[in-house]
Amino acid sequence: MPLLIQNGEVVTADARYRADILCDGETIAHIGANLGAPADAEVIDATGKFVFPGFIDPHVHIYLPFMGTFAKDTYDSASRAALVGGTTTLIEMVCPGRTDDPLEAYELWKSQAAGRSACDYAFHMGVTRFDDRTPDLLRRIVADGTASFKVFLAYKGAFGIDDAELYQTLELARRLGVIVTAHCENAEMVSRLQRQLLSEGKTGPEWHEPSRPTSVEAEGVHHLATFAELTGAHVYVVHTSCEDALAAARRAQQRGVRLWVETVIPYLVLDRSYAERPDFEGAKYVMSPPLRELRHQPILWNALRTGRIDTVATDHAPFDFHLQKEMGRGDFTKIPNGIPSVEDRVHLLYTHGVATGRIDLQRFVDVASTKAARLFGLFPRKGTIQPGADADLVIFDPGHRGVISAGTQQMNVDYSAFENWPIEGRADTVTVRGRVQVSDGKFVGTQDHGRMLRREPTHGN
Ligand code: URP
Ligand code: ZN
Ligand code: ZN
Repeated sequence: MPLLIQNGEVVTADARYRADILCDGETIAHIGANLGAPADAEVIDATGKFVFPGFIDPHVHIYLPFMGTFAKDTYDSASRAALVGGTTTLIEMVCPGRTDDPLEAYELWKSQAAGRSACDYAFHMGVTRFDDRTPDLLRRIVADGTASFKVFLAYKGAFGIDDAELYQTLELARRLGVIVTAHCENAEMVSRLQRQLLSEGKTGPEWHEPSRPTSVEAEGVHHLATFAELTGAHVYVVHTSCEDALAAARRAQQRGVRLWVETVIPYLVLDRSYAERPDFEGAKYVMSPPLRELRHQPILWNALRTGRIDTVATDHAPFDFHLQKEMGRGDFTKIPNGIPSVEDRVHLLYTHGVATGRIDLQRFVDVASTKAARLFGLFPRKGTIQPGADADLVIFDPGHRGVISAGTQQMNVDYSAFENWPIEGRADTVTVRGRVQVSDGKFVGTQDHGRMLRREPTHGN
């Protein structure tokens, strides 16, 4: 059935205007003033509302065996959570263990999503080992439409790779024209600091940040950038948390390294004091890199505004407070890392970014949708509103007022890091390829509507 969205204010990364949007099938057919409704069309009145392109979260974990347990969401819950939060496309990290077969892992991750996702999705392929078979296997995975890799410079003994493996991964990525996303923290420094703190009896969640100081993250960024410079690979620094890491990224860009920067919503609105909350409550706020001192927040917001940060993701990694975060009581190094936020990213970014005047509406769309589409080979199918693009649309009510709570969230996790936080504005109606999946802020759609998005390499030099 055709879908006509009338009288909304269309906002893309580079334009803002009043228009009607006619969707036919899965794509946008026409944009213009006073479009007539075809006889059989569903009509939505968007008067007083913004119409944004569907938001893209380029860094999530859904299926994730990690730190002795499994992340709590499935595609059923995570994709519904994404949609009610305005996100229509997820890019998930495939994270094989070092001894796992990469191709089997890739198929396993795909099988978790197939037929269970209500929104569209794609993958970054984690490279957690590099041996003689790896180039051939990665070529096959890229040919299947997964045209980006992920490496971890942290998590020694788990996902982390050594320098020889990093070099070979970047070299191959350059030859294949794919971008490499990277978790940048110096694994050796983290492991030494962890042991030192524990030996001093410093075992609570408040010691997580001191075990991974900003210098450790900045070293990771500089390390990645040096390897990217030598190999010519294009790289993307995930979850950047602090001024020092941003400075290392900037220095690399200034000497010509092709490097892009992501931050994630927790760093923009939370700070280190949350991980210092008493009675082990701080464990809810343990992620890596850690939440930083408050002084880093305005620096991140400013970098978002000026374009020095390219994207805002979540690094959604949901672990229950009870039973899972609990595993690290008495030893902060065993607290499963992650702050669930796939449902809250867009609403928090609007509330704390747009409504406060820190970023304007177009920057908001760019960092939460368009830039990720461009970097990861999805543009212009995703990330914008134009004829021929997928009809992924968010009709957003700026007048809505609500609160975030674990009691009402879709994410399958027993707490919210943002419990009782007010939000301004809400994704009222959300469409995925022309189908209404969210109406009046509630999931009303089809659970298996989501499709895997196959992407071509777009990072040839
Ligand atoms: O704390 C985090 N970030 N958890 C998920 C794994 C990762 O590092 O991306
Ligand atoms: Zn990470
Ligand atoms: Zn992550």
